[in-house]
Amino acid sequence: MTFPEELIKWYLFNKRDLPWRHTKDPYVIWLSEIILQQTRVEQGLPYFNKFLENFPTVKAFAEANEAKVLKLWQGLGYYSRGRNMHATAQVVMEKYDGKFPVLHDELITLKGIGEYTAAAISSFSSGEARAVVDGNVFRVLSRFFGISTPINSPQGKKAFYNLANEMLYTNDPSTYNQAIMEFGALQCKPKSPNCGICPLNLGCYALKNNLVQVLPIKLKK
Ligand code: ADE
Repeated sequence: MTFPEELIKWYLFNKRDLPWRHTKDPYVIWLSEIILQQTRVEQGLPYFNKFLENFPTVKAFAEANEAKVLKLWQGLGYYSRGRNMHATAQVVMEKYDGKFPVLHDELITLKGIGEYTAAAISSFSSGEARAVVDGNVFRVLSRFFGISTPINSPQGKKAFYNLANEMLYTNDPSTYNQAIMEFGALQCKPKSPNCGICPLNLGCYALKNNLVQVLPIKLKK
């Protein structure tokens, strides 16, 4: 089995049942991904449910007053995320006639949506072949392939981005992207991962070379 196939097989057995994994609605996926930026899944879940209850559609979100949005956001921190969401909901109403975009190149133009979030929304909602690269993906790729270029250097960003897209399982980019992130979150954890039970341990460069605790490398700035 190839690297992406192993990841997907692992994912299908081990994934958490999370509500945003049951939808292809780009609005709902956008809500979840913005909330999960800089927020852990357990902390973000109640906020996701609360936002969806209060604003079931992008129209409802756009028409809400900003004070209500920020009130619901309370406790999550980084209030610019809430403000950007409100602005983006309004742009979606005006420029896209209330239909939330699903294409990477449209998504990336919206406030609060960067490279990671555009890849996540486009792959999860429309199956567009865009690899997500987040902290989990850096860790999994760095360890398995033995890449020691610092993840926060321009060369590192480029190298990981290119490798991530080479590895992308184009038959099912959505499942593959969820799988590599979940694998990083649950199996290939930052500290003391249980490599004895890892389905990728035989091919893992870091394990073979005793570098699991060393990779990925992040430069102090
Ligand atoms: N963190 C960011 N996006 C996520 C997702 N779609 N599922 C689980 N954790 C995430």
